[in-house]
Parts: sequence; structure tokens; C-alpha cells
Amino acid sequence: MAEPTTLATVRPDALAHLMAGIARRCPDVARGPVDDAPSPDEPGHPEYHRARRTEWALSRWRTAVPPRYRRAESTRPAVQAWADAVAADPESAGSVLLTGTTGTGKTHEAYGALRRIAECGPERYHVIATTVVDMYGRMRPSPEDELRRLTRVPLLLLDDLGSGKVTEWTEEVTYRLINERYNACLPTIYTSNLPADSRDREGRRHGPDLITTLGERIASRLAEDVQVIAFKGRDLRRSA
Ligand SMILES: Nc1ncnc2c1ncn2[C@@H]1O[C@H](COP(=O)(O)OP(=O)(O)O)[C@@H](O)[C@H]1O
Ligand SMILES: [Mg+2]
Repeated sequence: MAEPTTLATVRPDALAHLMAGIARRCPDVARGPVDDAPSPDEPGHPEYHRARRTEWALSRWRTAVPPRYRRAESTRPAVQAWADAVAADPESAGSVLLTGTTGTGKTHEAYGALRRIAECGPERYHVIATTVVDMYGRMRPSPEDELRRLTRVPLLLLDDLGSGKVTEWTEEVTYRLINERYNACLPTIYTSNLPADSRDREGRRHGPDLITTLGERIASRLAEDVQVIAFKGRDLRRSA
């Protein structure tokens, strides 16, 4: 039986003739082998999928952010470093506490950090942002449903820690929330108008702080897990 004709057995001049004919009839085929690896704007390319995750995460961020902070960007290197650590590995990132007097830009920076995490296109992006006072409101009469929601969400902004009336009940639910998130290695960004610790070198307190306001138990739990980033400066609301 005759050998089947393959491209390898065709004489070179006959092959050139064949290719020229194909090129005339179907120029797209004759252009030669195409690189079939997807480009960054095509499915299959890692950059394409990262961009889709970023779009999705930013749409979730927009639903969590109040209109005042829609243009928030993180500008502090320490906060940016935390946001990047959360995007890279949420379990090992730990939590941050932004402290400073009213109007120094803590809430703006916190929403900016949540946006920065979204922009990295993380695998998961579930975020809840709330002030503690709103949280206490949703926890009445029973805190269990709200506690479960906030202790499980992968990323939480808890704004204005230490504000509102402190009672045995607020102390208990706040401790449970902080403790359970700490045990689950879930990153949280806290803000507070109070300093973490107002003591000087001699141990004298200079005004209220989170230890005196939230209690020793909560403050020492926070101290184990949380990097404190202090905001100083003028009240941005007054200078606007
Ligand atoms: N980096 C910034 N760029 C533009 N506006 C800012 C910036 N930081 C804060 N602001 C604005 O200043 C005001 C006070 O900031 P905010 O984050 O609410 O302060 P805090 O939470 O410390 O009380 C807000 O109106 C906020 O939108
Ligand atoms: Mg604020």
C-alpha cells in the first residue's frame, strides 16, 4: 500500500505552491501558526480574571460605603501596608486601629483601605462597615444574629469604637465580637476618637482612653492583635 501523503512527504516546491494557493483563498489561515495563549483582555489570562474580581469587589465596596466617603483613597503608608497584607493573606494580616480626634480623617482612610483591598482583586471580598452605635442598635433586643453576622464576615470596619454609652451589656458584646474575630484570624479595621492608652511614662493618665472606656479586658484583647495607627492634625471638617 502507498505511504499516505503528509506535509513531511510533500516536495518543498509543491508545498510552497500549496501554501500560496491557500494564502490567496483564505488569508487568515495562511498567516501561519497563531499564538493561542489568551491576551490580558481575554478569559484564561490571569490578568483578565483579576480585573473581573476587582470589578466585583469594587461593586461590593460601593454598596458598603456611605456617599461622603465614595471617593476615599488610603494615603497613609501604614494603612496601605495593612490593606496590601489583607489582600495577600487575610489570615496573617492582623487588624488595625486608627485613633485620633474627630475630623482627622480616620473614617475616610478606613474606607480607602477597604477600597484598596478591593482593587487588588482578592479571591473573596465580603465586607461589612458599621459604627459601633449602629451595631448596638441592631443588637437589641438580642445580639446573637448580629454577632454571628459580624464575627463571620471576612472583612469588617468597626467605626468609632468607644463611642456611645458604655454599659455591662455593650462591654460584653464588644468583647465577644473582638475576641471571636481574633480567634478566627479575621482582619478588622477599627477607628476610635480615643487614644489607645493615655498614660505617660510615669503611668499617669491624661484623659479618657480605650482602656478606661472599654475596660481592661477588651483593651488587652485589642493590644494582642491590633496595630495602632495614630492620626494627628487639624479637624478636616472645619477647614473644608
Ligand atoms: N484624605 C482626604 N481627602 C479628602 N477629604 C478627606 C480626607 N480625609 C478626610 N476627608 C474629609 O474630611 C472630613 C473628616 O474626615 P473623617 O474621615 O470623617 O474624620 P474622622 O473619622 O477622623 O472623624 C470628611 O468630610 C472627609 O470626607
Ligand atoms: Mg469617623
